[in-house]
Amino acid sequence: MLKQVHKFYKEEEPFKPEVWAADKKGTKINSYSEKRQIDLIREMLLPGKEDLILDAGCGAGKFAQSLLTFGSKIVGVDISFQMLKYCAKNLLKSFKSINADLNKLPFKDNIFDKIYSVGVLMHVEDVDLVIKEFRRVLKKGGSVVIVNNNLLLFYFSLFYLPLLFLRKIIFFRKTYEIIRYRSPFWYKRLLEKNGMKVKEIRGDSFIATLKIKKIKFFPPQVFLPFFKWVDRLVDVKPFKYFSFNNFLKGIKE
Ligand SMILES: C[S@@+](CC[C@H](N)C(=O)[O-])C[C@H]1O[C@@H](n2cnc3c(N)ncnc32)[C@H](O)[C@@H]1O
Repeated sequence: MLKQVHKFYKEEEPFKPEVWAADKKGTKINSYSEKRQIDLIREMLLPGKEDLILDAGCGAGKFAQSLLTFGSKIVGVDISFQMLKYCAKNLLKSFKSINADLNKLPFKDNIFDKIYSVGVLMHVEDVDLVIKEFRRVLKKGGSVVIVNNNLLLFYFSLFYLPLLFLRKIIFFRKTYEIIRYRSPFWYKRLLEKNGMKVKEIRGDSFIATLKIKKIKFFPPQVFLPFFKWVDRLVDVKPFKYFSFNNFLKGIKE
């Protein structure tokens, strides 16, 4: 099974780089939702000039591109050659991206100051192994920020998961793509079990998933204030536990 999953990511390329690249043509609402996610990661990661940071599952480098402006050194790792080709062609030359599997990182122990991983752990086969690798390559006191879809969001539990299930049954979609929805509490336990103290949990809203540019009747002057309000709401207790993505920050003890 593991081999098939690797083959799928490497050869069938389930994620097109264009989908994960920074949205250059989007509406005001698209740019807001992207900036919101980048701001959350920056606030949690606190990238410093001297920091060596790992972008685990960098994709098209959307987050690295923004975080590089803070002067840190960022190294990206991704299993997909298409994504890495996109990064080499479109990103700042100072961003180095490497083809590797997060299960077996090609780095020495204790070398990174910080690690972040956005929308990746929910796709990997053995997430425990990946977190162990993160801990191994992270310096003592270093921080890791992980961002993943939240099982506790009602939209996923009640609507999206049955829809995915039906799609598989009705269309017999042959795929090894894995998406596993987990709660922030599940990720917290996983980090703590692997010797990382969870310092912060935050959340964002569903806006990032909406392809609003195709829906012309979303005038930003009306919807942007509303979306901003929702984002503030899902970033405080207890609503953050039911946010769209869960953002967790762990510190290696
Ligand atoms: C949903 S995309 C997110 C990309 C990027 N982090 C972002 O948020 O724009 C998931 C990425 O994880 C990569 N990926 C999945 N499993 C991986 C693994 N085992 N090792 C390295 N990269 C992996 C995929 O190739 C893909 O680029």
